[in-house]
Formats: sequence, structure tokens, C-alpha cells
Amino acid sequence: MKVVVVANFDSMSAEVAKMVFGQITRKPNSVLGLATGSTPLGVYELLVEYHARGADFSRLTTFNLDEYVGLGPDHPQSYHWYMNENLFSKVNINPERTFIPDGLAPDLEAECQRYEKLIQQAGGIDLQLLGIGTNGHIGFNEPGTEFGIETHVVDLAESTIRDNARFFESIDEVPTRAISMGIKTIMQAKEVILMASGGSKADAVYAAVRGPVTTAVPASVLQLHPFATVVVDQAAASRL
Ligand code: F6R
Repeated sequence: MKVVVVANFDSMSAEVAKMVFGQITRKPNSVLGLATGSTPLGVYELLVEYHARGADFSRLTTFNLDEYVGLGPDHPQSYHWYMNENLFSKVNINPERTFIPDGLAPDLEAECQRYEKLIQQAGGIDLQLLGIGTNGHIGFNEPGTEFGIETHVVDLAESTIRDNARFFESIDEVPTRAISMGIKTIMQAKEVILMASGGSKADAVYAAVRGPVTTAVPASVLQLHPFATVVVDQAAASRL
């Protein structure tokens, strides 16, 4: 596991955007795994700038980590909406090659299997972007999730519901379930980048990078990945 400590959110975003751009340049038909939340927003902004300066996204395929159960693409807090708003509508990506789990699927188990199969059919993920929850989750794999699990339906942890309430009018509106790529799915990506910014992530980053590999801290599994890079700003790295 390579750890890169940078000054702040902007330098974290610049570092990761550069790595993603490098991947797209080396392999224009890359399969990218994408995250949502506050952490990758600067990366997406910079990728939009790379596109404005000529970067071509037309041959990419993307798979998002997760989606809330019960929120459709028209819901402003859905991850479909987020991706459209922050990246997809601003670059020349082929919408038919962007995949996000369907949180409205009538049969959620079947949706998980369909999603996992789509990833396999695309040849697996070349580069997976990850944020980290304050409780150490990656995707929505909450503490306690077995490492061998593929895309699945999860009950969100109380702490995740509290953390994500900032995006909703009230905490009661935060969905309590989501579909998430599993840890096994994430670990099968050829390369992963974990990003973290801010002091609120310092404990989780410390546990993930320096602590034992344990299901109690899902991100700690990345210590076992052959090509994992952790890009953290000084505040998030303050305990390392
Ligand atoms: C988002 C995701 C989550 C977030 C994590 C950090 O798709 O899977 O694991 O990366 O909750 O969220 P932020 O970046 O909002 O602090």
C-alpha cells in the first residue's frame, strides 16, 4: 500500500485527477470504478477541465460503487443524479457505458447479481476510486462486512446515516439501505485509489493504513491489495 500525503483537499484532488487522466491516456477504453460523496468532487471538477482541454472520455466504461435503495435517478440525492451533475453531463462519456446500481429495482437481489455480471462482462475494473467513511467503510461496506462478499444490499450504519444527513433536509429522509459493490468486487479491481481529506477522517485513515486487517475496519482490507494507493491530505493523515 503506497501512501501519498499532500497538503490539502485541492492537492489531493489534483493528484488523483492526474492518476485518472494517466489511466485514460494509457488505456482509452479503461473501466473506471467511481465513488460519490464530498471527497471526489474536486477530482471530477478537474476531469471536466481535462476534457475541456481535449481529454477524450468516449471509450470509457464506468461503474459506480453504490446507490441508495428507494431513490431513482430523478432524486437530487441519488448517486445517479450526483454523477450526472458532477461528471457525466460535462464530458463526452457514452451514457450507455455508465453503470450505477438501480436503487428502484423491484428485485434487489437480482439487481445485485446483474450488476456484478456487468462488471465481469466489461472485463473487470481497471482503476477504482474510493472514499472512506468515518467508520472505515468503503463503498457502503459497513464494519463487520465479510471480505468475500460481492455486490449486495446493505443496511446503512447509524454513523453513515448521521454523516450523510448533511445532504438531506432531515435525517429521517436518509435512506436506510443501499446497494453496494462488495469488498470482493472492490478487491478484484486491478488498481485502487483511496482518498481522504480532513481531520474527521484521521482515525479511519489511521486504522485502515496502520491498524490490523480486520472486518471491523473495511478499508483495512486494502493493505492486501497489490496496487493500492492512499492519497490523503495532512489533516486526514495527522495520526499516521
Ligand atoms: C460513496 C461511497 C462512500 C463514501 C464515504 C465518504 O460512493 O461509497 O464510501 O466514499 O462515505 O464520503 P464523503 O466523501 O462524503 O466523506
